Amino acid sequence: MKTYNIAAMGGDGIGPEVVDAAVEALKVCAERDGGFQLKFQDFDWGSDYYKKHGVMMPEDGAAQLRKFDAILFGAVGAPDIPDHITLWGLRLAICQPLDQYANVRPTRILPGITSPLRHVSGPELDWVIVRENSEGEYSGVGGRAHRGLPIEVAQDVSVMTRPGVQRIIRYAFKLAQSRPRKLLTVVTKSNAQRHAMVMWDEIAAEVAKEFPDVTWDKMLVDAMTMRMVMKPQTLDTIVATNLHADILSDLAAALAGSLGIAPTANINPERDAPSMFEPIHGSAFDITGKGVANPVATFWTAAMMLEHLGEKHAADRLMKAVERVTADPKLHTPDLGGSATTKQVTEAVCEALRTAN
Ligand code: NAI
Ligand code: MG
Repeated sequence: MKTYNIAAMGGDGIGPEVVDAAVEALKVCAERDGGFQLKFQDFDWGSDYYKKHGVMMPEDGAAQLRKFDAILFGAVGAPDIPDHITLWGLRLAICQPLDQYANVRPTRILPGITSPLRHVSGPELDWVIVRENSEGEYSGVGGRAHRGLPIEVAQDVSVMTRPGVQRIIRYAFKLAQSRPRKLLTVVTKSNAQRHAMVMWDEIAAEVAKEFPDVTWDKMLVDAMTMRMVMKPQTLDTIVATNLHADILSDLAAALAGSLGIAPTANINPERDAPSMFEPIHGSAFDITGKGVANPVATFWTAAMMLEHLGEKHAADRLMKAVERVTADPKLHTPDLGGSATTKQVTEAVCEALRTAN
């Protein structure tokens, strides 16, 4: 039987709560499938680790993760540690060396969930946002000088490389081609940023020629926010830079009902290192330890993980189980206006998996 080795890393805040829930559901899913096995290894890296060791993960952390088939990640962020330390010390310290350059963020309205958009009931909103995940505005290039002096200067330099842009645009075109509508929107800001974003547009037009069956258009990021709200049905696959897609995907998550249901995958498309699967949300200090974190985002990303591993059938079964549960308002957590707990939702998904075809 095939065995997949999964690194399970809850991280901070509600991260461990939702990752534990997903591990439980994944175990039932594998049992139910019968064709593969999942072996989990837990990692305690994160802010508590930082408080003990002064680093978010060991220096060879990314190297240790290389031997796994996939990484299931919760969240990072603690109220008493600056966010740039936790983010760069763990999440980005994993994504960058493992070259997980495509951050894929599906959004649709699951059964039983209400969109804040009045005119949207479900099928009008079914998107995948592809976020460049290795360079751009989050390249880490920049610096500060004259610290604390009146002449202090600080720079964050957005770095875009031709191969970096080509690979993410090509990934997005391929993904668009694999979806029924074969529709791609390339998000840009080349009116105001006249170097890198102009190259981004040029490369999009070049790569588009390789995909004559994909219809594509270009949209300025500011206008894009409006289109997402006013005409969601005109969008399908979307590609944007690291910063732009970071922001647009939180908007997408909110339009689909809650941050608590939005998943993401940090993909290494060449598969020369493991990919990492996580909910979009952060560590949610306000609800940590209360047992009410919505585990649906992590279940959905777990389904993306199964699909990436080649277990499409099991992935579909897990998503169907999740949809059976979201369809019942009694099983909604407080972020969706209900009063169910993480445990109740998890048990319901496991039960739906056991009884599904
Ligand atoms: P957040 O996503 O943690 O929380 C925003 C709001 O959404 C909160 O009211 C929270 O209770 C709610 N929420 C989030 N996930 C939920 C879930 N599964 N179920 C129910 N409600 C949920 O974002 P915030 O407050 O801006 O950041 C908190 C910390 O998380 C910060 O340190 C931040 O840097 C970090 N963060 C980490 C991310 C990651 O690990 N990828 C992503 C976003 C934030
Ligand atoms: Mg974000």
